Amino acid sequence: MSKIVILTGAGISAESGLGTFRDENGLWAQHRIEDVATPEGFARNPDLVHSFYNARRHQSSAAQPNAAHMALAQLQAQHPGEVVIITQNVDGLHEKGGASNVWHMHGILDGALCAACSHRWYAAEDMHRGTLCPSCQMPAARPDIVWFGEMPYDMEQIYAQLAGADLFASIGTSSQVYPAAAFVHEAQAAGAHTVELNLEPSSMVSSFAETRFGPATVIVPQWVNEVIGQP
Ligand code: APR
Repeated sequence: MSKIVILTGAGISAESGLGTFRDENGLWAQHRIEDVATPEGFARNPDLVHSFYNARRHQSSAAQPNAAHMALAQLQAQHPGEVVIITQNVDGLHEKGGASNVWHMHGILDGALCAACSHRWYAAEDMHRGTLCPSCQMPAARPDIVWFGEMPYDMEQIYAQLAGADLFASIGTSSQVYPAAAFVHEAQAAGAHTVELNLEPSSMVSSFAETRFGPATVIVPQWVNEVIGQP
């Protein structure tokens, strides 16, 4: 029984047509983080934030999973109950690609959160300033996205998974945002083998026991086939 913990970032969805954050022309080259990814930005201009996430939601729902998403789902199928995918991504492409046991530590574009009572629900429609919370009826709906300065979801459970990891893979992330960037250290402390699969070396590249560089749709299926083939 080996526990495989996988962390993914925007790079795994890049070949599905969804932009990354810090690559050239990335999201943070087009929008100011303080305007669209902080609670202060939302308080200042909720219309701007709602339109930013509504647009990303439409783009994400039209996107298709790629060979890297599918490969991780195949790994889960070959190792039932042993593979957890912790994603920084807010798109639903892991699930669309057949994965289960996917933890969205930064929230999800299809989600809504009530700023008044913290109720979370599936946002079937676009949200706007004044969208009512179905639980407390307050006009306080906001995107269920973890913004800078907010606590990611499931951190206690994530650290418990890392503490029991035999294999930790970081896929498609620049490793510039904490706490995810330090997960490799948690996994290492647990004695796990650590591997970085990315288009180019990330900020944490020197912390990994193994590194593989290239497009996720090429290197992730190759890596998965090797892991599946191992006794
Ligand atoms: N295949 C593999 N890796 C790729 C590909 C690809 N086709 N294209 C880009 N990458 C890599 C880039 O080299 C980069 O290292 O994906 C990484 C994307 O890095 P970021 O844009 O910083 O995205 P991410 O690491 O997911 O950002 C983490 O920051 O802004 C916050 O909440 C946001 O979840 C996000 C977090």
